Amino acid sequence: LTKSDQALIPTLLSETHAFAKAYMARYDSSHDFSHVLRVLNLALHIAQAEQKRLQSVALVAPPATKVAPLYDTTIVTLAALLHDVGDKKYIKEGENNDEFPVKTFLVGCGASEALGERVQTIVDGVSYSKEIKDPQRVLDLINSYPELAVVQDADRLDAIGAVGIGRTFTFAGAKGSGGAGMENVLKHFEEKLLRLGSMMKTKTGSEMAEKRVQVLREFERCWLEEKSIAG
Ligand code: ADP
Ligand code: NI
Repeated sequence: LTKSDQALIPTLLSETHAFAKAYMARYDSSHDFSHVLRVLNLALHIAQAEQKRLQSVALVAPPATKVAPLYDTTIVTLAALLHDVGDKKYIKEGENNDEFPVKTFLVGCGASEALGERVQTIVDGVSYSKEIKDPQRVLDLINSYPELAVVQDADRLDAIGAVGIGRTFTFAGAKGSGGAGMENVLKHFEEKLLRLGSMMKTKTGSEMAEKRVQVLREFERCWLEEKSIAG
């Protein structure tokens, strides 16, 4: 971060928080600002746990050294708050179709072009569908933008486990009669959610995902058992 970006951090954080909150109001409650706040908290948790893990390794391997920070907390926070801004699935018709809404917003707040581009690149890298098409692209991005690993893991953790299950039915309900209804939710488990566990980028994320994937499997097992009786 440049000196002027650093001086701007408190303003950037509070303006970004307010912007993300207003922006997410357009979405249904499977995908609202509380999702963004959970992703932020999960991302900060993962970043801290990864740092601790590395530090404990450095301390037992002599000579004891203090390790450099793995992640920039400001970048993690901005990217987590903005990670669903500009999602193509949700762009409203006739809306200003800015290709770089995150960068445009940050630069508009006074951030440097470099900071705007860094956060925009991370936000663009979170996408599951883009990763499926080109997995190597994400790995290359993480080399230059390590914060992508924690924000992406955090977003995916919120799609699995008990909260993830809650979100799938909320999503189905929000789609209403135009959507595929409750029956198709379990298809989404197979098509996407059960695959996320093996796509985590951090060790902390993988460990947390393992538990949450078990919750999905158990839910699926109970669902099928009940269905086998009730149809
Ligand atoms: P994000 O961009 O935050 O990863 P999405 O926009 O892909 O989330 O989806 C929002 C929520 O709706 C997620 O919890 C996701 O699992 C759920 N969801 C998306 N598509 C479906 C679907 N076809 N059936 C059930 N749930 C879905
Ligand atoms: Ni998200």
